[in-house]
Amino acid sequence: MATATESRRGARTSFQTQLLIDGKWRDAVSGKTFATYNPATEELIANVAEGDAADIDLAVKAARKAFDSGPWRKTDARDRGRMMYKLADLIEENLEELAQLETLDNGKPISESRNADLPLVVDCFRYYAGWADKIHGHTVPIRGNFFCYTKREPVGVAGQIIPWNFPMLMVAWKWGPALAAGCTVVLKPAEQTPLSALRLGELALEAGFPAGVINIVPGFGETAGDALVKHKGVDKIAFTGEGKTAELIMRNSSDTLKRITFELGGKSPNIIFADADLDAALEGAVLGLYLNQGQCCCAGSRLFVQDTVYDKFVDRLGAKVSERKLGDPFDPGTEMGPQVDKAQYEKILSYIDKGKQQGARVVTGGGPVGGKGFFIKPTVFADVRDDMAIACDEIFGPVLSVIKFKDVDEVIHRANTTDYGLAAAVWTRDIGKAHAIADRVRAGTVWVNCYDVFDAAAPFGGFKRSGIGRELGEKGLDNYTENKTVTIALD
Ligand code: NAI
Ligand code: MG
Repeated sequence: MATATESRRGARTSFQTQLLIDGKWRDAVSGKTFATYNPATEELIANVAEGDAADIDLAVKAARKAFDSGPWRKTDARDRGRMMYKLADLIEENLEELAQLETLDNGKPISESRNADLPLVVDCFRYYAGWADKIHGHTVPIRGNFFCYTKREPVGVAGQIIPWNFPMLMVAWKWGPALAAGCTVVLKPAEQTPLSALRLGELALEAGFPAGVINIVPGFGETAGDALVKHKGVDKIAFTGEGKTAELIMRNSSDTLKRITFELGGKSPNIIFADADLDAALEGAVLGLYLNQGQCCCAGSRLFVQDTVYDKFVDRLGAKVSERKLGDPFDPGTEMGPQVDKAQYEKILSYIDKGKQQGARVVTGGGPVGGKGFFIKPTVFADVRDDMAIACDEIFGPVLSVIKFKDVDEVIHRANTTDYGLAAAVWTRDIGKAHAIADRVRAGTVWVNCYDVFDAAAPFGGFKRSGIGRELGEKGLDNYTENKTVTIALD
């Protein structure tokens, strides 16, 4: 194991930094490495092996072999499940260390890593472990003297490309259904946050997954990611990230007609009616946007507030958001850490400038904290118009746009006036209004009087530019299975 020193309180001092290919840890073919930084201090954490096309080729060959002729296709479904339960147990046993690693590399508050990310990771692996031996086909009553049945088979080698906002949880969402279905995987973690995926690779080997079933190739999107997308030996690409990247992936995977599923961004409407429990709605508005420093695909970044309560609600929101505790992500009391890297930090600040230029009113925040680390003050803009950049574009940071509305039909129309369709929420005590929103807003998830309620059993994904396919739940297995129809002539 390569080592690097890190002075952060409580953090590990050595990290797995090599590629995992065919059950072995190795350097990149090129010998190159890239740096991963602590976004709270801008200090180097470690240099990580930088995979590119040559390493992706080796990883795909290993995954192909494990799938086509190796042990994985012959492993009983129940034994696949057993390995997955074992991995979940190992993650739970190492939960504190993994939570610290996630906070170190990503900058998210340790309270979130411990109490949100890691428990969801464990749950996801256990949930899909349970599915491994329950992926059934049907018998089909076709015309004639035949016996017809369907079976669901693994799609093959899955290439999985993930982002940096929930590094370990994205691994779980990708590996869980793929391994349960019997696929082998080549994972390309985000270049900003490769460390926790590599640690999960170590635990996967300990859990007993055979060589080649799980391969991990850190590196950059334009090199390692691109090679995975184009590789002939890959049957399917599952990607989470930016829509523009998804467009490229769709184009680049078209020569080989790969199956693709995408989980992309959003500009999710969070709709608060005057008749809601406004204390709960206030909590929901804050959680819905500022969780993970606003770096959530489903962030409730367009907050629609009904006109009769608008002024008072905006005042309360400003007061509450300005109290958020921003600072050292390792402090258990910290509610907000730094943004993940300089590029995201600069993107967010440029949107804050645009908001000001286009005439939105800064209620609180509105700029960087200053000093070391990529910290941005939690920001609320009020009096936002639908056509402003801060109301249209995914900012992926702690910037909330508050918009005034009058009635149900109007807010549904405005909520739907977006290219995205990932999530939506409504706060009301009127069951009719709640259902109207749930029915008519074009989004993959609708929360009523709650926000960000995730569960491994509940499908998640987007309409329109927010994605293709659904992850989690039974639906998530569809991404990793092919249907086979078998017809047998009787006599
Ligand atoms: P990105 O889409 O470029 O990166 C996500 C993953 O895709 C990374 O692993 C990256 O290496 C890989 N990738 C990049 N280019 C690729 C290519 N040509 N072929 C194959 N793989 C490629 O997202 P990025 O640049 O990190 O963030 C930009 C914006 O995207 C954010 O500001 C945010 O708005 C959005 N985003 C949305 C996420 C979501 O959960 N829906 C997650 C991360 C970013
Ligand atoms: Mg990018």
